[in-house]
Amino acid sequence: MQNLALFGGPRAVAEGSVKTWPPLNQADRDAVMAVFDSNILHGTAAPNAVALQKEFSEYIGCKYCLVTNSGTAALHMAVASLGIGPGDEVIVPAFTYWSTAAAVLHHNAIPIFVDIEPDAFCIEPKLIEAAITDRTKAILPVHIHGMPCNMGPIMKIAKKHKLFVIGDACQAHGAKCDGKTVGNIEDTCGFSTNRSKNLSSGEGGLFCTNNEDAYRVAGMLREFGEVVVHGEEREYNAYGMGWMYRAHEFVNAFCRSQLKRLPENNAKRQEFAQFLTAELRNIPGVKGPHTPPNREPVYFNYIVRFVPSELGFDVPVEKFKAAAQKALAAEGIGLGQWQRTPVPAQSVFRDMQGYGKGCPWNCAHYGRKIQYRGEDFPATIKFIAEHSYLSAVYPPNTLDLMKQYVAGFKKVMGEPKALKRLMDEADKAAKASTAST
Ligand SMILES: Cc1ncc(COP(=O)(O)O)c(C=O)c1O
Repeated sequence: MQNLALFGGPRAVAEGSVKTWPPLNQADRDAVMAVFDSNILHGTAAPNAVALQKEFSEYIGCKYCLVTNSGTAALHMAVASLGIGPGDEVIVPAFTYWSTAAAVLHHNAIPIFVDIEPDAFCIEPKLIEAAITDRTKAILPVHIHGMPCNMGPIMKIAKKHKLFVIGDACQAHGAKCDGKTVGNIEDTCGFSTNRSKNLSSGEGGLFCTNNEDAYRVAGMLREFGEVVVHGEEREYNAYGMGWMYRAHEFVNAFCRSQLKRLPENNAKRQEFAQFLTAELRNIPGVKGPHTPPNREPVYFNYIVRFVPSELGFDVPVEKFKAAAQKALAAEGIGLGQWQRTPVPAQSVFRDMQGYGKGCPWNCAHYGRKIQYRGEDFPATIKFIAEHSYLSAVYPPNTLDLMKQYVAGFKKVMGEPKALKRLMDEADKAAKASTAST
């Protein structure tokens, strides 16, 4: 037990050896500084905006791309550009960042949640048809933690029911399903480029489509509902609702510079993830993610599953996970919780706090009474309970850090008595706190 860093032993991961994301270099700095020199600081026709759109659409393989100022904006454009609006339903997974569902609400449409695949944590295609009603207009699969959804069956269901498919690829730049890149499979798709994402520009988003009409409408939504044509007199006429979703040139320049290194950075993430998964397979108590054979994830987050039964514990997994994480943190291994409940269990849905006054659920166009309940999504609840994400499984970190991680996992999982002690201590502390209240 004394071997563990928590009880005074040496750390498995040397202090200062974990580097943050994204890796920056002189080319990034030069790209941003060149914007100052150009003195072109904004506009949808600014040179870096136009070039980024061309370069990203080439990377994804789609016809059209629009740069915008967040992933949420890109998703809202992806929903609204297909004509989805008041009274329409859009099917979304219960396990996602809630911005996916917010993008549906932003256009007064109604998110209808569906549970996830038990092993691959994306929307479960087998559950989609049961959620389709005569109000359903689209399915919105989310390629979560960099794992592409099982797009074949999803596209088939959409075709059968004449629905659109909107992708949320905010966490999955470059991920592939059946050899096809996400963003080039769906009707429209949104990507985020905020600080943590595989393609990072600090803050930002990208909208992709092969549909010319959706591209045109999304362009209007991005800029106040107007049609602004570079080089022509501005009409100053809004054709409908629009937002201010333009991106900044500094951000565009930075994003272009990062995009050049996206393939090599994704390859590093994949190399580290495959190494970890192979190693964790042999460590009782923890496991890496399951990857179905038709999918090529880009590991936005590397997730770890905690399996107490492998160490002979018959305890709730959350209790084991908390004890293990405490010991692992002392070793220098950071693990975090991504989402705590299914999205429909969040207050905004449970209490139907949209625009206030029950809107959009009691909007005259809707006319259906629904209720959101977290407990309706058991696979999501189980997934959240069992998993954490492992920090820093990306460059500029190296395979050496991954080896240190493996050594730390081996050390901690090799000390079940210490884990038992930590679980007992947590129980005692919980009892004491209940007694004092
Ligand atoms: C799955 C998912 N969807 C949507 C978003 C929203 O992106 P942004 O924060 O750029 O608006 C995020 C990012 O946080 C996300 O992870």
